[in-house]
Amino acid sequence: MIGGLHDVQVPAGVQAQAIFDLWQWLLAICTLVFVAVIVALVLALRRAPRAAQDTPPDVSSLSQGEPKLVRAVWAAIGLSLVLLLGLLAASVFTDRALARLPLANALHIELTGYQWWWEARYDDVDVSRTFTTANELHVPVGRPVIVSLAGADVIHSFWVPSLNGKKDLIPGRDTKVSFRADRPGVYRGQCAEYCGYQHAHMVLYVIADAPDDYERWAAQQRRPAATPATAEQTRGRDLFVRRNCAMCHAIDGTSAQGRHAPNLTHVASRMTIGAGTLENDTARRAAWILDPQQFKPGATMPAQNLPPDELLALNAYLGSLQ
Ligand code: CUA
Repeated sequence: MIGGLHDVQVPAGVQAQAIFDLWQWLLAICTLVFVAVIVALVLALRRAPRAAQDTPPDVSSLSQGEPKLVRAVWAAIGLSLVLLLGLLAASVFTDRALARLPLANALHIELTGYQWWWEARYDDVDVSRTFTTANELHVPVGRPVIVSLAGADVIHSFWVPSLNGKKDLIPGRDTKVSFRADRPGVYRGQCAEYCGYQHAHMVLYVIADAPDDYERWAAQQRRPAATPATAEQTRGRDLFVRRNCAMCHAIDGTSAQGRHAPNLTHVASRMTIGAGTLENDTARRAAWILDPQQFKPGATMPAQNLPPDELLALNAYLGSLQ
């Protein structure tokens, strides 16, 4: 797995902690009940009278009743009710705790699920400060984040278990989820609603940075793409905007403004490509451009039959987009 934990047992925010606490109570109580049932079963088996073929039937309970057993059954029913009501109350209180996250000064992100990747638009009251990225969110530690969720094609589900529970992205029905990361780290998220062939390759990383690091990252993301520094990179940029790359991908600061695929303005700053499919290094990026279907069959991006020199130039340009 590429970086970051995907683990409900490693909560990094108050909400994930509340869900984890509830899960531990559920596990403990259900374990106790399971053990009690098995103990009762073993005792019953051991105390049952042994009979052979010619033993006469014991029908005494038909006339005498069994007050002790009836009391035991009622006690078990009462205890079960108390435990189930207790668990119900615990889950209601947990749900309310999740909704009570203070949201003052929250960061706003619009997250859209596509087959099979995530588009993230960072909102700002000053429109010139908004920017778009894909498949990796950076958030400042300690600051609440409100994520508006939209589904572009089918139903997807936002799930970063270290931060909060799941929330579906349903086409035509916008919803919201909020969270706060309280510890810096890389938290792996995953689409949690089956959405087609490459559902498993729909990974969303949330990187919780110290506030200063986050501001530096966001300032870099707001910049248009870097100007090519070498002749090869310049050639790569020209290939990108002239060939079919630009029909689907956008690179801010160039004429490439496609909106059907991840925005690549700062693609080199990301850990992975293909929404968590491959590590983002030169060799894997080249292999991906040549034949994405080899790694992510069914993805929208077709194979690119580029001559080697064009592939090198294009890859050099993409690698410069920090
Ligand atoms: Cu998107 Cu599963």
